[in-house]
Amino acid sequence: MNPAIIPHPVSFQLTGGAPFVLTPATRVRFDAASVGVAAWFMKWLGLDDSAKGTGADIALTVDPALAGELGGEGYKLSCGAGGVAIRGAAAAGVFYGLQSLRQLLPPDVEQSKLRTQNGKLTAPAAEIVDRPRFGWRGSLLDVSRHFATVAEVKRYIDLMALHKLNVFHWHLVDDQGWRIEIKKYPKLTEVGAWRAQTVIQYREQELDGVPHGGFYTQDEIRDVVAYAAERFITVMPEIEVPGHSSAALAAYPQFGNTDAPGYAPRVQERWAIFPETYAPKAETLQFLDDVFTEVLALFPSTFIHIGGDEAMKDQWEASPTGKAFMRANGLKDGHELQSWFIRRTENFLAARGRRLIGWDEIQEGGLAPGAAMMAWRDVKWAVEAARHGHDVVLAPTSHTYFDYSEGDEAEEGGTIGAQTTLEKVYSYEPIPAELEPEHHARVLGAQGQLWRERMPSFARTEYRAYPRLTALAEVVWSARERRDYADFRARLPWLLARLDRLDVNFRRPRK
Ligand code: ACM
Repeated sequence: MNPAIIPHPVSFQLTGGAPFVLTPATRVRFDAASVGVAAWFMKWLGLDDSAKGTGADIALTVDPALAGELGGEGYKLSCGAGGVAIRGAAAAGVFYGLQSLRQLLPPDVEQSKLRTQNGKLTAPAAEIVDRPRFGWRGSLLDVSRHFATVAEVKRYIDLMALHKLNVFHWHLVDDQGWRIEIKKYPKLTEVGAWRAQTVIQYREQELDGVPHGGFYTQDEIRDVVAYAAERFITVMPEIEVPGHSSAALAAYPQFGNTDAPGYAPRVQERWAIFPETYAPKAETLQFLDDVFTEVLALFPSTFIHIGGDEAMKDQWEASPTGKAFMRANGLKDGHELQSWFIRRTENFLAARGRRLIGWDEIQEGGLAPGAAMMAWRDVKWAVEAARHGHDVVLAPTSHTYFDYSEGDEAEEGGTIGAQTTLEKVYSYEPIPAELEPEHHARVLGAQGQLWRERMPSFARTEYRAYPRLTALAEVVWSARERRDYADFRARLPWLLARLDRLDVNFRRPRK
């Protein structure tokens, strides 16, 4: 196996000189702007900062003058017997340069670091110039349908960093569990984070009788956000409004459509779309403002995801309170009320210097001016929104839903939706073909989705994620003309060997 880098850099040359040899005596030199990156690297490698020796140096430099050439995330890397130099216009670029250096080193570095490797960790002489194609390189993790521990979330973030992904979309709230501590509303987690049982995988008339749940304290959230930031990953929370709210309403039923026939919210045990929505009344709006106030204090992300998908309109339209509200506000139906909720949330966020992003249903009643959209059902929504001047992120079911199986039914033991092969993911082009060039800049990027209804364990999650997320990482980072599936497959074993050393339960490509 030859050293290879995924995602494929803009330019990568093996120059044929003597290799760089990493030893416990290797010193890392860095400037003030690279302190954090250097700390990450030395800790990752188990390198002792105080080690003195004659080994070659690794020099990390931030030079803002490179911004024109490299943007904020690009880097230049020179590697050879005399040392390694990594330069970026900002610290993020230096970090990505280190991820590439990591991939020049043999996969064993992931496991034993420097401890047992003295003299064997060599990186070939190479020159790299690199920068990402898109600024939004995301990965969604659903922790509502099945909880993930902080340790699992950090491991997930570590793998994102290896792939130069930079937006962690944390799906914290859904019908089957509310997973974020909100101090003002303790029942959200006392009640909303727990369900009595769950449907049995692929035998969905039967329930398993096993309680399931969990949540993150605010201290844990802050810890994860800081951990991600050290790896240049923004954590974007998703707090669903106005639907997917069963778990919240199980905790605080008074904020739902209490006068709709059959209103009986509960933390859901099945996979479906449920009728509960927040009710348009003052106490509910205050609740949402309070929740978002605490959320904004925890997450510095400019974008806050408010869901907006799959909100059923039935309870609003059947509730005397909902009907009266719609009449009083000139809203002709539940679709317009959905839009009213989204606009109100957009105004709340904008007044606090944040931006709303939501699933493509948020365009139903017209998008608020600063709102961004995540297209999942159909790329046509992204095209329309971009033409109207809205930023868009591509997350289509067709190529980026990794709950869809990779192999066939027999192999996977039950599937959801269509088959999405590695090659299909790799073939994905985030800029819709029909979008006019003057609107291309509205496409911020794309992301992979790990909806975890059918991923009860983290091992199963990794099986679904990798290597399809590896393919998507190259889609969003590498220049379009640099992408070639056969070439990707030739480079992949080097990366998979690394995932092997990290005990990642990836799916081994079949052919
Ligand atoms: C979604 O899959 N409901 C966004």
